[in-house]
Amino acid sequence: MRAHHDKFTGMEAAFRLSWTLTLFTVLGYNAAFGAGERPMMNAVVAHEYGAPEVLKFEEVARPEPKDDEALVRVIASGVNPADPLTLSGKYAREWGTHLPLIPGYEIAGIIEKTGANFTSLKPGDAVYGYPTFGGGWADYVVVKEWEVAPKPKSLSFAEAAAVPMGALTAWQSLVDAGQLHAGQTILIHGGSGGVGSFAIQIAKVRGARVIATASTANQDLLKQLGADVAIDYTKQKFEEVAKDVDCVLDPVGKDTLARSYAVMKKGGIILALVAPPDPEELKKREIRAVGVWVKPNAKDLSEIAQLIDAGKIKPVVTKLLPLSEAIAAEKQAETHHTRGKVVLRIADEPKG
Ligand SMILES: NC(=O)c1ccc[n+]([C@@H]2O[C@H](COP(=O)([O-])OP(=O)(O)OC[C@H]3O[C@@H](n4cnc5c(N)ncnc54)[C@H](OP(=O)(O)O)[C@@H]3O)[C@@H](O)[C@H]2O)c1
Repeated sequence: MRAHHDKFTGMEAAFRLSWTLTLFTVLGYNAAFGAGERPMMNAVVAHEYGAPEVLKFEEVARPEPKDDEALVRVIASGVNPADPLTLSGKYAREWGTHLPLIPGYEIAGIIEKTGANFTSLKPGDAVYGYPTFGGGWADYVVVKEWEVAPKPKSLSFAEAAAVPMGALTAWQSLVDAGQLHAGQTILIHGGSGGVGSFAIQIAKVRGARVIATASTANQDLLKQLGADVAIDYTKQKFEEVAKDVDCVLDPVGKDTLARSYAVMKKGGIILALVAPPDPEELKKREIRAVGVWVKPNAKDLSEIAQLIDAGKIKPVVTKLLPLSEAIAAEKQAETHHTRGKVVLRIADEPKG
């Protein structure tokens, strides 16, 4: 009996060992190769460059933050005119774009976890920012410390996602490059767009006089945002109204830029966002120009958040669309006639 028992116990032990080894092997395999264990997420993905239609709505592996990164659960993500250009692949080499590409260059969300060296914010913090290489049109995105700051408390996540790109561009143009100050006059082209709508408000905070342009339907918005003079560029030439300005913000280019030199005073500055000014014109009229290329900047985002929470500036959200409408959002961005900002809703606003 004893012998039988021992034999039985031995067989059972062997069976158990073999079962345990099998389980270990399966789990070990999955952990290493991500088959069933790797967390997944929804994302809008491009596997090829092209028109907005190349975007697919897919389930992909959730990114893992490196030591200097945080994983953010995205609640909302903004849409930009540069997005379709990035998607076209035309500037892939210059802009460091890679496939597969998840667009989404402005986000608002909640920190899910942080890498060992990401110490400025912690899990649970509400943040907003500009992930340099996108990734925001997904449930999760990884960010570096310099790309995010605490979200303005007075805004919903959808509103906060409408801020980073436009406000940073306006800030780095007017404050850093232009050093705009009280007593100066600035001409802001495209005052109703993602950049211009913040530029008007930031210029007013700096104490400048603002002349802004937009089409007929957006004249009311220019005034609401604080423009002292609103010009309907479809009905009137801006040079009939704007004279001797200290500063021009140009997010339009072409003929708009070409006609802007003549309205500037000597020593004035052009803040060029889309096209390089003509060096001959600059020399002839003794004006300066700076080409501005927006960069993520946590300190700037914090200062902008303070102004927002102080009620001095606000975003203009024209449309809030579900992530599944990403192609429609991208097509709107291509028009270069967006009023304020289109935002994609990725998850419900957290309660409380
Ligand atoms: N260099 C950089 O770092 C940087 C950063 C951000 C953006 N950008 C570029 O700057 C441009 C503007 O960006 P955004 O986000 O503001 O674009 P947006 O949201 O599409 O707004 C464009 C605005 O321009 C106005 N507009 C169009 N044609 C005009 C004209 N002929 N005269 C005056 N206004 C005109 C539109 O007003 P109506 O609808 O009333 O016509 C619209 O409000 C884009 O090309 C973008 O790629 C560059």
